[in-house]
Order: sequence, then structure tokens, then C-alpha cells
Amino acid sequence: MAVPAVRSIPFFNYAEAFAAYEDAFVDIVRDIIRRGAFIQQRDLAEFEGHLAEYLGVRFAIGVGNATDGLGMALRAAGIGVGDEVLFPSHTMVATAAAVAHIGATPVPVDCGPDHLIDPASVERLITPRTRAVMPVQLNGRTADMDTIATIARRQKLLVIEDAAQGLGSRFKGRLAGTFGLAAALSFYPAKILGCLGDGGAVVTNDPDVARKVRLLRDHGRDESGEVRCWGFNSRLDNLQAAMLEHQFRDYATVIERRRNLARTYRADLYDVPQVVLPPGPDDDPEHFDVYQNYEIEVERRDEIRRFLTERGVGTLIQWGGKAVHQFTGLGLNVSLPNTERLFERCLMLPMNLTLGDADVHYIAGAIREFFGC
Ligand SMILES: Cc1ncc(COP(=O)(O)O)c(C=O)c1O
Repeated sequence: MAVPAVRSIPFFNYAEAFAAYEDAFVDIVRDIIRRGAFIQQRDLAEFEGHLAEYLGVRFAIGVGNATDGLGMALRAAGIGVGDEVLFPSHTMVATAAAVAHIGATPVPVDCGPDHLIDPASVERLITPRTRAVMPVQLNGRTADMDTIATIARRQKLLVIEDAAQGLGSRFKGRLAGTFGLAAALSFYPAKILGCLGDGGAVVTNDPDVARKVRLLRDHGRDESGEVRCWGFNSRLDNLQAAMLEHQFRDYATVIERRRNLARTYRADLYDVPQVVLPPGPDDDPEHFDVYQNYEIEVERRDEIRRFLTERGVGTLIQWGGKAVHQFTGLGLNVSLPNTERLFERCLMLPMNLTLGDADVHYIAGAIREFFGC
């Protein structure tokens, strides 16, 4: 077989990611400058309304980023000093930092074969101080929320979802972000629904949590300006909300395009024995995945990574190559065998809408070439 010319396929091309929206965004910026509508204006309210409607929840509250959103949701849920909160160690450190910053103890949990929180590990780590579990809807896949909900009910734990990577993904038809007391979403630029900077939202059906998060994000102030509690400055900018609202109109199409790329990866690589692929979009009727990331497991991971770099293909190991408990400076000091094994094998291949099928064929071809099959 002829060796194809080397292509350049970055892992994520920030400059190109929003190219399709450039003209529309410039119009939005101009309109917002002319209206002088920067903080907590109607564009934010519209986006929040649309997000709540999409998820089928009562409240969506735009915040500065998902990390702040998680912290404010935990605070609004009454979690604090002396409490333990379980979270999967295969996540961004932000999940655990949100817990630590409210004075509670983040307790890392192992992952299952799907790379998501392992319910059996959750059960093992519950103590009398455990108040909540934070499933992370990682890589655009929703965890087995039936089992998590059963454990939480039995042990009287709150469920706060980290849905930063999960918007649009479903488990048994139900959308990520709608399973627990509250959830946080991220609109970081590389997210499927991303803005031009930081952004996030808290979503909930609970009026008391919604009220508290609204206060917390705006210095503790209510609509009359009365300060009800110590708060923060963590509002989703009106401008970002307007640009998110514009993109959100295409969300179903965007998800379907990502699912098609995942189909192509699967068709090209399913028979390579050294590679374990994420489940395909059509493999499991209980899950609807949106492929925020395409995280494979692969033998000789570091060697193949170098080989792909030589072939012009950018890849990434999530979180800089370590799960949260493996950052020794955080002092978490536990051993989680599944997660540690995964972090010797996991690798993210490019997954974004600047890719075409030909790029996926090229990446898959390079992987097959490396393994000689
Ligand atoms: C799983 C997970 N949790 C939390 C965050 C934090 O989100 P943000 O950057 O909006 O604070 C991220 C962002 O990358 C994430 O992927």
C-alpha cells in the first residue's frame, strides 16, 4: 500500500474551531457594544432559558466557569467543613478543587472499564462523613446513573454532577446534568458548546439551590441589591452567553457530526487488537454519547504517540498524563489500580469538527501501520 503524504492534524485547532461562526460573532459583538449590554442582560437570560428548556430542568444559571459552578452548587447544597465528597480520580483537578475550596474533603474513586466512576468503588469508600458523590460525565458519556442513584438513596448521599464534558449525552434517554440535585456545565472553548474564553452554568430543579447559586454568583446580591450572603463574582458574561446561544441552535447537528466521526474511527480500527476503542454510537441503547473526547486505550502508548506526532497527528493524554490522586502535591495518597493502569494506556485522538472523514482514515491508517496490520 502506498504511504500517504504526511498531513498536519493538530489535536485541537483553536484558531479554526470557531471559523464557521466568525461573521456571526462579529455581528453579535457589535450589537452588544452598541447596546452596552455586558453583565446580566437579556442575552444571558435568553441563553439560560434555552439551556434549561433543552435539558428539561427548571433552572439554568450562567456562571464564570464550571469549576466555580461546582463550588457554588456544593455550597448551595450545604456541603462544607468535615464532609467527604466522592469523585472519580479520572477527571480534571477542578472537580476535586471545588470540594477542597469549601473546606470539605475530596475522596478519589476508581474508574470502571468505561473510564467513568466505578459504582463498586463508590460503595467501598463511603464513611459516616460522606455527604455527596460527584459523578463526572467524562468524554461526552453519562455514567451508569441508575446504580449511582440507588447507592446515593440507600446511603443518603447527595448527587452533584460534573457535566462539564457531558452536555447532550444521555443515559437511558435522560440527559447528563439532570440526575442529581445540581450539575455544572463548562463552555471552555474546546468543549462541544464552547465560548471565546471561560464560561459555565449550574443547572438544577431545586428552587432553593437555584436561588443560592444566583446569589453566590453575584456578590450575594438579590434583585433588589440587598446582600444576602458572602458571594463571589462569577457570572457568565452577556457577550459569551449571546455567542453560546447562537451556536446552541446547531447543537443537534454538531453532536451528530461528532458521532459520525466516532463511527468512522470505529469502522477503521475495530479489528486492531492492540487498541480498545470507546463504545460506538450505535453499540449500546442505554447510552447516547456525544464524544467530547475520543479516548482510546492502546498498547505501547508512548511509542505510538511519538509515531503519530511524526505523522503530523496531535494527540493528548488527559490532565497532563495523571489522574487527580497521582498529583502527589495534593496529598491525596491513595491507590486506585484501574485508574493507574488506564493512565499507562489512555490516549485521546483528535475529535472535533475541523476533522473530516479523510483525516480520521489517515489517523487510523497510521495506527494500523504502527502495529503492522
Ligand atoms: C471534567 C471537567 N470538570 C471540570 C472542568 C472545569 O471546567 P471550567 O474550565 O469551565 O472551570 C473541566 C474543564 O475542562 C472538565 O473537563
